[in-house]
Amino acid sequence: MDKDAVKKEIRFLKNEIKKHDKLYYNKSKPIVSDFEYDNLRKRLLELEQSFPEFDNSNSPSHKIGPTTIHTPFAKITHKYPMLSLDNAFTKGDIDNFIDRISRFLNVSRDNIDFCAEQKIDGVSASIIYKHGKIDIASTRGNGYIGENITENIKTVRNIPHEIDTEEQELEIRGEVYMPLSSFENSGFVNPRNAASGALRQLDPSITSSRNLRFFAYYIDDNSCSSQISILNILKKMGFDVANFSLCKNLNEIMNFYENTLKSRKLLDYEIDGAVFKVNDLSFQKRLGFVGRSPRHSIAFKFPNEEATTQVNDIELSVGRSGTITPVALLEPISLGGVTISRATLYNFNEMKRLDLRIGDTVVVKRSGDVIPKVISVDLTKRPANSKEYEQPTICPCCYTELINDPGMVRVYCPNHYSCPSQVVQYMIYFCSKHCFNINGLGKQQINDFYNDGLIKNPIDIFELYKYPLKDRDRFGEISVKKLLQNIEDSKNIELHRFIMSLGIPQIGEISSRALADRFQSIENVLKNDIEELSEIGGIGDNLALDIHRFFKTDINLQFINNLLRHVTVFYKALSEDHKLSGKIVVFTGKLSKISRNEAKQMAIRVGAIVGSSVSKNTDYLIVGEKPSSKLKKAIELGVKVITEKEWMEKF
Ligand code: IVH
Repeated sequence: MDKDAVKKEIRFLKNEIKKHDKLYYNKSKPIVSDFEYDNLRKRLLELEQSFPEFDNSNSPSHKIGPTTIHTPFAKITHKYPMLSLDNAFTKGDIDNFIDRISRFLNVSRDNIDFCAEQKIDGVSASIIYKHGKIDIASTRGNGYIGENITENIKTVRNIPHEIDTEEQELEIRGEVYMPLSSFENSGFVNPRNAASGALRQLDPSITSSRNLRFFAYYIDDNSCSSQISILNILKKMGFDVANFSLCKNLNEIMNFYENTLKSRKLLDYEIDGAVFKVNDLSFQKRLGFVGRSPRHSIAFKFPNEEATTQVNDIELSVGRSGTITPVALLEPISLGGVTISRATLYNFNEMKRLDLRIGDTVVVKRSGDVIPKVISVDLTKRPANSKEYEQPTICPCCYTELINDPGMVRVYCPNHYSCPSQVVQYMIYFCSKHCFNINGLGKQQINDFYNDGLIKNPIDIFELYKYPLKDRDRFGEISVKKLLQNIEDSKNIELHRFIMSLGIPQIGEISSRALADRFQSIENVLKNDIEELSEIGGIGDNLALDIHRFFKTDINLQFINNLLRHVTVFYKALSEDHKLSGKIVVFTGKLSKISRNEAKQMAIRVGAIVGSSVSKNTDYLIVGEKPSSKLKKAIELGVKVITEKEWMEKF
């Protein structure tokens, strides 16, 4: 490689790293993924090692964060630097890591054990206790100087304010994180940014309201001889410590890594890998540091779930109820082992917030099994001729003029009964499990039948028997017979399923059941008045109005009457003799033994109606941990309040 080019690339990399450090540390607003940032550092280190003449101690490769930190908080110099970990991405990287250690110590691999821990994706913090009481807490800052966040740390509820120790001074280090349950709807792109933002509030009461948590992973206690004993002591002192285990060889390390990766989905916090630390602390001391990382530990990162790619186009998808959702068509990219070529943009407000344009370079993220989403746009890579995306005014499918519903952040096509996309989506829903439950009529078949003109609306499904279906693609004699039988069976339908299959906006399983239990026949449902509707628990005034309007709209009534020519609707209370049957119940707070969803299902199963807000008609308010204002309201209205235990006793 030509030396000038190397020099140029090093200069470029240094500038990029400095820029991203500033965005990350000073502004808590990174614009690249960790993966890309790590790659920049890796490349810089690689070049500096191959061309030592261009390396100098000022290079960001020797530093942990930005050289200067701009902060309204007082600065704290760490007793010893808060470093970061080297990353491994493959089994081979871990194998090399063990080899390096074994050679350095001149100890055989068999005699080196590792403490395996989860790598918590939060922000590191140091807490110094004096005479057992919190004295000073600080952020990592640039690794040498951090910010004094003592008052904010004191609001983190699982950090003990006092610990039982003989030591005059003890320093604990660990990771502050935001539980995923608190992160939802926080408006931050990821829980780490949310935690960092919350921890650096000038008003500790704001930090307190963000529900942060802490996992401890280090204590400078001379009486400890291993990392495992450090973690055990921390636990004994009352700190939460994330899952850990002793690993004796590469196999055990790989097992811990695989299991951690699998268990990731079950946790209420984000982890981005596993950390492996030489367990013996005397070995750790001998191993020392290289650059900004200790030689004794390594972070084995999970496959990256964030990646950078280009937006080739923006497609508009039309949902069952006509909502138009913009979808980014991406230059295909591998993300966590899956190739991604589309990402949802949710709605046009979100697109505006991101200022996303065709041709933009974007960061996409995929967590678990959820649909990938675009989390940020790299404005520095925007093509010069790019244009702001214009919100559509006509339906891309049927060319009907779209309606903008700002209250619902929704743009929709009102042509519900003839927009092909809506009709097909609706029929898929109509046949699905909680509606008519017609086995054998899935997405593919409905699309095929629609395209061939066999079914133009759900009513046609009940006349499919008129067509020679045999010999169609994927249809033999037996499958045709089965399908027609399933359609026949579906014609006897319970009232709540019938209501559900009408696709009334915002009416799901629970409200359908509540409506069915209240009216008990389709004739009564059709005769509903607003008063009656709003008396049903869980259906507020606005929703009552929408439902009423739905049943008063001619085209809907026509459809229902047509349907009723083919099907018979019946009502059966789930369990008429159960003491909760017909009772209106509302939940508040976190339940400890079962999930809220399971509790709701239990209630529905015995014929109770689950409401979402307390009114004078509510029969029971079931109260879990940290109840909301519903409790106050229930007391005011004289509604019976029961505990989770009392609730369970009713079954
Ligand atoms: S040990 C030399 N253990 O990951 C630093 N760090 O890049 C020693 N982290 O800054 C840190 N979980 O914020 C350690 N179980 C764990 C960790 C952990 C998360 C964070 C920490 C550190 C970064 C490393």
